[in-house]
Amino acid sequence: APAPTPTPGTEASAAAPAPAPAKVYVVGTDAAYAPFESQNETGEIVGFDIDVVKAVAAKAGFEVKFVNTPWEGIFNTLTQGDRDFLVSAITITDERKQSMDFSQPYFDARQLIAVRDNSKVAKFDDLKKLKVGVQTGTTGDEVTSKLLGKNSPNVKRFESTPLALKELEAGGVDAVVADNGVVENYVANNPTAKFKTVSDPGFTPEQYGLAVRKGNTELMEKLNKGLADIKADGTYDQIYAKYFGA
Ligand code: ARG
Repeated sequence: APAPTPTPGTEASAAAPAPAPAKVYVVGTDAAYAPFESQNETGEIVGFDIDVVKAVAAKAGFEVKFVNTPWEGIFNTLTQGDRDFLVSAITITDERKQSMDFSQPYFDARQLIAVRDNSKVAKFDDLKKLKVGVQTGTTGDEVTSKLLGKNSPNVKRFESTPLALKELEAGGVDAVVADNGVVENYVANNPTAKFKTVSDPGFTPEQYGLAVRKGNTELMEKLNKGLADIKADGTYDQIYAKYFGA
């Protein structure tokens, strides 16, 4: 049957105008960093960072689409405009601040050393003559490169932190230096790896932030407002307790 012919001039007033669709931001994350971001059995990206960003988005009234993005090059995807912002347990550093903007910090971290449980390593300095695995371009890479020398063949760089930890288990490196939360999570979930952790008071405190393209103040304001809101209303604490205990 032919469609009924609308009476001219009545279409617009017939129904309330559709609400503007929520803005969808594309969020880059290197999802090999449990418990902050990882892929579950069904390939879904999950973790503490993911829950924080989803809660921020719900408060601020936008939608998010997470895209698994290798750490090497993750900052380029931001500057090139392929991602709107990044959540990836990214430590706020002065150097990175020159090429991107960071939200208010949302998590405290520090470096932690993983070694096999029969290791004699007792402090960071003990790694000087050893083979040390790090994830390329992380703050763990930075501190280790400083101790051993940037071009030292003993700095073994891996494209992900789990790969570095696997190599520690296999005996190819003597230690791994990475963020405490990730090292602790790996040790707890891989008892057969027989690792222990070594902390060092010399490691500087680090803080994670959401990374936004330089000058994108509109998005930055939404993120900071959302972070403040979820901290104020207890949502942040709930997410924290879910992953790290109360
Ligand atoms: N916090 C460290 C850094 O910013 C490591 C972050 C690595 N994140 C990841 N999802 N692989 O350098």
